[in-house]
Order: sequence, then structure tokens, then C-alpha cells
Amino acid sequence: MKIAVLPGDGIGPEVTQEALRVLDALQLPGLTLLEGDVGAAGYRKHGHPLPPETLAMAREADAVLFGAVGDPACDNLDRHLRPEQAVLGLRKELDLFANLRPAKGFDGLEELSALRPEIAREIDLVIVRELTGDVYFGDKARHVLPDGRREGWDRMAYAEDEVRRIAHVAFRTAQTRGNRVTSVDKANVLETSRLWREVVEEVAAEYPDVALEHMYVDNAAMQLVKAPGAFDVVLTGNLFGDILSDQASMCVGSIGLLASASLGERQTDYGTFGLYEPIHGSAPDIAGQGKANPMATILSAAMMLRHSFGLEAEAARIENAVASALKDGVRGGDLGGTLGCAAIGEAVCERL
Ligand code: NAI
Ligand code: MG
Repeated sequence: MKIAVLPGDGIGPEVTQEALRVLDALQLPGLTLLEGDVGAAGYRKHGHPLPPETLAMAREADAVLFGAVGDPACDNLDRHLRPEQAVLGLRKELDLFANLRPAKGFDGLEELSALRPEIAREIDLVIVRELTGDVYFGDKARHVLPDGRREGWDRMAYAEDEVRRIAHVAFRTAQTRGNRVTSVDKANVLETSRLWREVVEEVAAEYPDVALEHMYVDNAAMQLVKAPGAFDVVLTGNLFGDILSDQASMCVGSIGLLASASLGERQTDYGTFGLYEPIHGSAPDIAGQGKANPMATILSAAMMLRHSFGLEAEAARIENAVASALKDGVRGGDLGGTLGCAAIGEAVCERL
């Protein structure tokens, strides 16, 4: 089982180290770790944020564990050399079209949620966001109209196969949870959304055990803060998913707690190839100070064991260890506590 570990910049290396410590504590047999440079670290060493040798290493591995990229010192570089291009490049090159972001309330953290505690306690959902299509990847242009006004446009498009494959991921995910899918679109005004709805209906017919409902994105935004407990799996496109997943994460408590998986269709000997990363960035304001909360990265490693290696029991052990640490009051600065990155990693390992 080969894991390409790409720590990246800022707090990336600090939080990745704690995730590796947790994996080490599980003593999984047959695990090989490869380490590659990415982001500003890749640029400094190899002249590119996603050096060819790093991409080759990721392709050769069964899964990628990613820290974070981004460095204020690179702000003036050309767009294609900026550290953030590394994560976009990896998603695109590895065809990682399905982004899974679970948002689940933790016992003892309800007070830190942006929602009322009794509502926050109910959250247990996964957003399944399409990651390689939509308006983000459509043609873009800027020009000047004949009358001199500037105009910009971005083309929003989805082909049916793009919708179909992400819909399958959502329905399969629902089968492992509460058997409910809420497909979020804007079918009252967008043609892409009408096609989206049609195709999702077709796919739903293959999953008679899963209940499907459709919801307009504006209503979904409202329901997410009003009654998040009503959602199980939220299936949506790239743009709506970007916004709703950040919104859902804030309902839980801290950015330092939320994990993600980006999956493709490629199967390895052990499971589905994927890239796993915390949803936060490189946090330059606290980098190098040992202050970061590594839980999001530790939970991302748990997702990796589940999806890429079929190690469900081990994934659950990690998740339970994190939940129990939080319940016992293990808190980093992001949760109003004083524990550092290594101490939090240590606390999770003790509970394993
Ligand atoms: P950020 O997520 O890095 O930080 C936002 C705030 O949350 C900061 O105050 C930071 O200290 C805090 N924070 C983040 N993670 C934390 C953790 N694990 N423990 C404790 N506190 C934590 O987002 P920001 O500041 O907008 O971006 C910083 C850099 O990261 C930029 O260069 C940005 O482009 C990049 N970025 C990279 C991502 C990636 O690698 N996938 C995702 C988001 C941003
Ligand atoms: Mg976002």
C-alpha cells in the first residue's frame, strides 16, 4: 500500500507529521510512504508548484495524503507558478472528480458552532461535490463591448456523463449511511441544472433503496442553517458545492476539524484512488509555531484508509480517537484551547 505524502507549505508539514504519527501508531502492515515536494516548497526546489516527479509519484501511489499549499512570499509569481496551482493540477491530472466533505457535530463542541447548540448537535451529513466541471472549467473571456463597457463571462456546462458519475458516487455514499440523497441545483433558471436533474433521476432508478429529493440551492443554503440534521448526502455541482461545503463546515465549529476526500474512478488493488486533505489552507499566520490543529488532517487520513484501502475498522478507530479527545477537552487554539500541534497528535494516539 503506497501513500504519496505531500506536506506542502505553512502548517502543511506540521499537521501532516501528526497524521503520519497516527498512521504509525496503527502499525499497518505493508505500508510504504513516499514523500514529495509540492506548492511553494516544490517551486523552491524544482521550479514548479507541481513538479513532474511529484505528479509521477502521486500517479504511482494508491493514495495521496496532502497537507496544504500557499505562501505569501509567492504572491507576485505568475499564476501558473503559484503554489495553489498544485492542488488544482493534481485534481485535474488525476481526474479526481468527486469531492467528499463530511460535516458532523462533535460532542462537547456544540458551543463553538455558529448555530444554536441544539441545532449543531444534529449535523451529520456529507457533501458530494463535482470537482472538475461546471463554470470553473468552462470557457472564460473578457472583452470590451462596442459601446465601451467591459464585459466578462464564464460558460457553465455539464455533460451527462459528468453528472452521471458524480451521482453514482452520491448514491453509493448514501447506501453506507442514511440512504438519502438531496440533489441541489437551480433548475428553475439554469439549463445545466435541468439536465442535472434529469440525469440524477435516471441514476436514482438504479438505487431503489435510496430516497432522492431535489432542492434549489437557495433553499438548501437556508435549510443548512435552519435544520442541518435533515440532510444525509448532499449531491451538487462544483460552484454550489464550493459554497455550501464551506457553509456546512462552519456549522460544526472549526476549520481545523474538517477533512476531505477527492476521488476518481481509478481502482487500485485496495480500493479507490484518491487525494485526502484538510479543508483548511497553509495558515501562514500561525505556521512554524506548532499551533495548528492537526485533527482535520488526521481525519483525512482516516478517510484515506476507508476509501483507498478498505480499512473501515481502522478508519473508525481514528475517528473515535479524535472524537474522544475532543470530548475530554483536548483543544487547540482554534477551539479556544492551548494545546499545540504535537500534543494534539499525541492525545489522539494515546486514545487509539
Ligand atoms: P487558511 O485556511 O489557511 O486559514 C484561515 C484561518 O484559519 C487562519 O486564521 C488560520 O490560522 C486558521 N486555521 C486554518 N487551519 C487551521 C488549523 N489546522 N488549526 C488552527 N487554525 C487554523 O486560509 P487562508 O488564510 O485564506 O489562506 C492561506 C493560504 O492557504 C493561501 O495561500 C491560500 O491560497 C491557501 N489555501 C490552500 C488550500 C489548499 O491547500 N487546499 C485551501 C485554502 C487556502
Ligand atoms: Mg472553497
